[in-house]
Amino acid sequence: MKQNKLISFRLPLIVCLLTCGLLYCFSHLIERSFEKFSIRQNVTELNSVITSIERELTYYSPSDNRDEFIQNLLLILTGHHHLFVYIIDDMGKIVYRTRGPNLAIALTHEEFERIIEDESTSIENIDKSSYRIAASRVTGENGQQFTTIVAVRRDVQLEFISRLRNGLGLLIVISCVLALIGSLISIYYTQKPINRLIRKIERISLKNLNYRIPTSSVPVKYVSLVKAFNNMLNRMEDVFSRQRNFTADIAHEMRTPITNLTTQTQIVLNNARTTEEYREILYSNLEEYEKMSQMISDMLFLAQADNRQLVPKLIDIDLQNMILMMCDYFEPLTDEKNITLKLEGNCSHIQGDKMMLGRAIGNILSNAIRYTPVNQIITITLSQMSEKRIKIVISNPGEKIDKKHLPHLFERFYRVDESRHRSDSSGTGIGLAIVKSIIETHKGTIYVESDDVSTRFIINLPTAI
Ligand SMILES: Nc1ncnc2c1ncn2[C@@H]1O[C@H](COP(=O)(O)OP(=O)(O)OP(=O)(O)O)[C@@H](O)[C@H]1O
Ligand SMILES: [Mg+2]
Repeated sequence: MKQNKLISFRLPLIVCLLTCGLLYCFSHLIERSFEKFSIRQNVTELNSVITSIERELTYYSPSDNRDEFIQNLLLILTGHHHLFVYIIDDMGKIVYRTRGPNLAIALTHEEFERIIEDESTSIENIDKSSYRIAASRVTGENGQQFTTIVAVRRDVQLEFISRLRNGLGLLIVISCVLALIGSLISIYYTQKPINRLIRKIERISLKNLNYRIPTSSVPVKYVSLVKAFNNMLNRMEDVFSRQRNFTADIAHEMRTPITNLTTQTQIVLNNARTTEEYREILYSNLEEYEKMSQMISDMLFLAQADNRQLVPKLIDIDLQNMILMMCDYFEPLTDEKNITLKLEGNCSHIQGDKMMLGRAIGNILSNAIRYTPVNQIITITLSQMSEKRIKIVISNPGEKIDKKHLPHLFERFYRVDESRHRSDSSGTGIGLAIVKSIIETHKGTIYVESDDVSTRFIINLPTAI
């Protein structure tokens, strides 16, 4: 939140600075253009006037045509406001001067000769006014030299430029303030739904993990974000609830054998027993101990899988051979129910951990044997899906597993019929969870199908990891 506030101030500040910078550049450009334009205008005016005067001076003779000369000068200056002329001869005598500033000051200027040579102009401040000055020197008809100074007053232009500068400065300040206010307002309105969302998210804890943010309460652009967040909550809730059930299930599973052992021990201790009776009770206890030990090692196995610590020791495996050996291993159990284990098809050798894959297939086979009615056939089919993938299908006849159970079958401690397996007390419901972990460690997939004819576990494995 704190960082949010920082960002919401930083952004308007950046917008404000950018606006300020842009407008400054823009106003500087306008000011410079206007300055250049007025200089050009002044220079053109000065040059045209000075050229006309030069022309008049070349024919000028003070004794012959002074009046005509003055008349012509007045004609030249007609229409030129704020323009002043100062003409002297080589004796320093004033030939003509307009009313106004004393332009003779320019003569003392150290740059005066350069202006004449370069035909350029310069700035002169006379009586608190600024003038642009041009000058020339011509020789008249009788060999007399005349120096002409023409000046144009710049005060109006300077005042205009100064006003323009002030106006643009004010515009920059107002624009910056408006940009700042505008961006603060727009950020406030953009931030508002996000802040509301953050507050809602902050209220979610383990106690109300089932709460989902309604997508109707957020602007359209955040709907997919909220959906993704809700989906993440779904997954988290699922993991937490499984974790909770898992702990409860472990406690439950451990309690039964421990209660059995405690009760038996109490009964035995109540009366004196023969050695044979003690031996029998110890055997029965041993069974419980073994079951608990098996369950603990299964849990450890799953914990390792969860922490990605299961590292398969990869070797080349001939699956056909491995499954035939397993069929031999299960013979005592299948003989008991007169069940036949039939292996069909073939596939290429694969890379895998023989112990782990043996455990996975063994788990499925032991389930299959348990749920297959007497005198029936369990089929194991091997096939090659592609060059790099093989398929194992273990299919057993028997009661159909209801569709609603199928997605949960690989969950820990999940049993289809709780009571049925409690009484037969042979399964804890983690066999298939272990199978799934093993197959996934081998980068394969497993799923189950069940119908009135059979239940099929389908494993898909890569030939090499
Ligand atoms: N071949 C099958 N036919 C019918 N139901 C099955 C089959 N395999 C598994 N199930 C159902 O799936 C449940 C979970 O099987 P899983 O192997 O995980 O547990 P379990 O066999 O009960 O106990 P465990 O394997 O830990 O000793 C079983 O309880 C059973 O209800
Ligand atoms: Mg099992």
